[in-house]
Amino acid sequence: MSTYNKKLKIAFYPVILLMAFSFTLRAQPNGAALYQQYCAQCHGAELNGGMASSLIDGVWQFGAGDSYIRRNIKHGIPHLGMPSYERSMTDNEIQAVVQYIRNVEDEKGVVKPPTPEMHETMDYFMEVETFADNLEIPWAIDFIDENTALITERPGRLRVVKNGVLQPEPIKNTPKVLHEGQGGLMDVAVDPLYDENGWVYLAYSHALDDFQGERAPAMTRIVRGKIENNTWTNEQLLYEAPPETYRTTRHHYGCRIVFDPWGHLYFAIGDRGAGYQAQDNSLPNGKVHRIYKDGGIPANNPFMHDEKAMKSLYSLGNRNIQGMAIHPETGQLWTTEHGPMGGDELNLIQAGKNYGWETVTYGRNYNGTVITELTHLPGMQQPNFYWNPSIAVCGLDFYTGDLFKKWKNRLLAGALKYEEVRLLQIEEDRVIHEQVIFKGAGRVRDVSTGPDGAIYVVLNNPGKVVRLTPEK
Ligand code: HEC
Repeated sequence: MSTYNKKLKIAFYPVILLMAFSFTLRAQPNGAALYQQYCAQCHGAELNGGMASSLIDGVWQFGAGDSYIRRNIKHGIPHLGMPSYERSMTDNEIQAVVQYIRNVEDEKGVVKPPTPEMHETMDYFMEVETFADNLEIPWAIDFIDENTALITERPGRLRVVKNGVLQPEPIKNTPKVLHEGQGGLMDVAVDPLYDENGWVYLAYSHALDDFQGERAPAMTRIVRGKIENNTWTNEQLLYEAPPETYRTTRHHYGCRIVFDPWGHLYFAIGDRGAGYQAQDNSLPNGKVHRIYKDGGIPANNPFMHDEKAMKSLYSLGNRNIQGMAIHPETGQLWTTEHGPMGGDELNLIQAGKNYGWETVTYGRNYNGTVITELTHLPGMQQPNFYWNPSIAVCGLDFYTGDLFKKWKNRLLAGALKYEEVRLLQIEEDRVIHEQVIFKGAGRVRDVSTGPDGAIYVVLNNPGKVVRLTPEK
C-alpha cells in the first residue's frame, strides 16, 4: 500500500466513524427526544394532556393498537388539529415515539383523571355524585320507583340500588348468560305498568344449550320475570331466534329494550359480525324487532305478509344498535347505532324501512379500507344524524324530568370512546343542536333520566353510575 493511500484512509476514518455513528442514531432514534420536540406542546411534556388529550389515560379514541397509533401520527387527524408527521419523521422515528409512549404507559400505569365534582354546560352547572360504585362492567340502568334502581353487570348479575345503597347481593336465579367478547347480560327494562304487573325485562347473550363442541353458537334473547325476595321468578321467554341462525361470533349483539305508548316492545339485534345478513329479512340479526310485552307478534308488523320474513322484524339494515329511546310526545322510536369508522348513526326508526347496512354507510373499516363507496341508494334511509369520527354511541334516553327544565324532551346520547354524554335537540326528524354536557369520567355505556329528574350515567370503566343534578 502506498503512503498516499494510507494517508487517504486515515483521513477518511473520522468520516467513516461519523457515518457509522449517524447510522446507529438513525437505526435507534430517540423516542423521548422526538416526543418532546414534536408532541409535547399539545399532549403535554408528561404525556398527560394539555391542548390535546392525554396519551396515558388508556383511552384511544382513534384506535389502541400500535398500528393505529402509528397511522394517526403519520397521517394526522387533520379535522381535529392533529398534524401529519409523514414529512418530518421516518417510519422508524414514528415507531420510536410509539415505543416511548408505551414505555411511559407501562411505567406510570394508566392515569385516569378523577371524576370531576362539578361540570359546566352551556345551560347549567352540574353536580356530579357517585350513585353506585365497584360494579363490574355495568351495562344498563332502569328504575322500579324513585327509591329502587336495577343495574345489569355484563358478566350476568342484576344489581339493586335501594335508597341510594347498592345491595351487596345480586338478584338470585337470573338467566345464565354467555359472557364472552361483547356478550353477556345487557339491558334491563322495567314495565311501564310495573305497579300493576311487576314485570322486568332482560336482554342477554344466549348460547345454544345442548351444543356439543368448542364454541357454542349464540344470539340475543329476551325474557321477562318478576323479582320476589331478591330472586328472579316467573320467567317467560319472549323472543328467541331459531337455533340455525345462532352465530359463533362474540360481538354485535345489539340490544336495548323500550316500550311505546301502545303496548309494543322494541329490541334490536346487531349484525353479529355478518354485515350482509342485515339485509336478509329471513334472519334476526342487524334488525329492530317489535313484539308485544307478552312476546306476541303484532298483526300489523311490517313484514307480516312476506312469506320468508321473520314476523317480529320492524326495520332492516341496522349494524349494531346500542341506544334506543321512545319520544315522550310522539311515541316515535329513535336509535343510535355503532357504525364502522366514521359511520355512527342516529335514526328515527319507521316500520318496514331499510337503514342500509352494509350496502350503504358513511363509515369505513377500522383499518381504513373501504366497505362501500355508496352512502345513498333509493329505498334505503339516510341517518337523521351521523358522527364522523365515530364517538361510539351507547345508551340513549329522552330527558323527561323536571330538574333540567331547559332540556325537556332533548335526547341524551352516551359515547363509549369519547367518554361523553351529548345532548341533542330535535325538531321533527332533524337534529338542530348538539352539545357535550358531560365528559372525561369514563366510557359511557348507558344514560337515563331517573324518576327524580336526575340524569344517571352508567360508566363502563371504572364500573360505576354517576348522578347529575343542577347545582342548587
Ligand atoms: C398541534 C397540536 C398537536 C400536536 C403537536 C400533536 N398532536 Fe396528537 N393530537 C392532537 C389533537 C387535537 C388530537 C385529537 C383530539 C385529541 O386527542 O384531543 C390528537 C390525537 C392524537 C392521537 C390519537 C389519540 C387517540 O385517542 O386515539 C395520537 C396517538 C397522537 N395525537 C399522538 C401524537 C404524537 C405522537 C405527536 C407528536 C409526534 C402528536 N400527537 C402531536 C393535537 C396534536
